[in-house]
Amino acid sequence: MVSSSTRGLVFLFIYTLMIMRKTAAYAGFQPTAWSLAHATFYGDETASETMGGACGYGNLFSTGYGTDTAALSTTLFNNGYGCGTCYQIRCVESSACYGGSPFTTVTATNLCPPNWSEDSNAGGWCNPPRTHFDMSKPAFMKIADWKAGIVPVMYRRVPCVKRGGLEFSLQGNGYWLLVYVMNVGGGGDIGGIWVKGSRTGWIAMTHNWGASYQAFSTLGGQSLSFKITSYTTKETIMGWNVAPSDWNVGVTYKASVNFH
Ligand SMILES: *[C@@H]1O[C@H](CO)[C@@H](O)[C@H](O)[C@H]1NC(C)=O
Repeated sequence: MVSSSTRGLVFLFIYTLMIMRKTAAYAGFQPTAWSLAHATFYGDETASETMGGACGYGNLFSTGYGTDTAALSTTLFNNGYGCGTCYQIRCVESSACYGGSPFTTVTATNLCPPNWSEDSNAGGWCNPPRTHFDMSKPAFMKIADWKAGIVPVMYRRVPCVKRGGLEFSLQGNGYWLLVYVMNVGGGGDIGGIWVKGSRTGWIAMTHNWGASYQAFSTLGGQSLSFKITSYTTKETIMGWNVAPSDWNVGVTYKASVNFH
């Protein structure tokens, strides 16, 4: 005869094991289904025009994004929350597509702004509500003949595969901290950030523009920790003491953690 309290304990134990298994099986950001869109390109083979886009990543070579990048139409850009998201893009249903309909993977680093003096179906490709990718020319040239100018594509969001931890590029002044978050793995996007100085509690940062967040706080001379929530998966991770107490603006500090 097993007492009911023992049965309760056994049940609790099994239940806890089930929850632990579920947590351990968390697989990070999952690819979305394929959708249809169109793609164009901007700039030339050097991709120099793609540097310094609306996400604020600056020089894409030094920040690790390279030339596999795209500017997103307003709909996908999502007021900057689309910054850092990663897409597989494959050319479909056009004689300009390379054989085998190859795909390439790009990271969103810029906004393709609308141009209302052009029709949405004749030049105004990035006008809402169109979903459109204005790719770097080197990225476009991996899937189609650039002479086509525009091609139909299939795209899906995929996990961003990044090496190493999140990177925090610090800007601002003694009373205002502006942080650009880069090298974001997994969903690639950021939903919220908190900063904690060694002498403060957690301070919620507000979205500034692109992939930047700000706090109007005096944080000089304190080591900085960051708590970051993924926009898509809502997962939260902690980067303790990412910047040492003698941190400076204009410097990028690396955390040891990242999303997957
Ligand atoms: C918008 O389209 C017009 C008409 O084609 C063009 O002259 C103009 O340069 C475009 N504006 C921008 C900002 O690209």
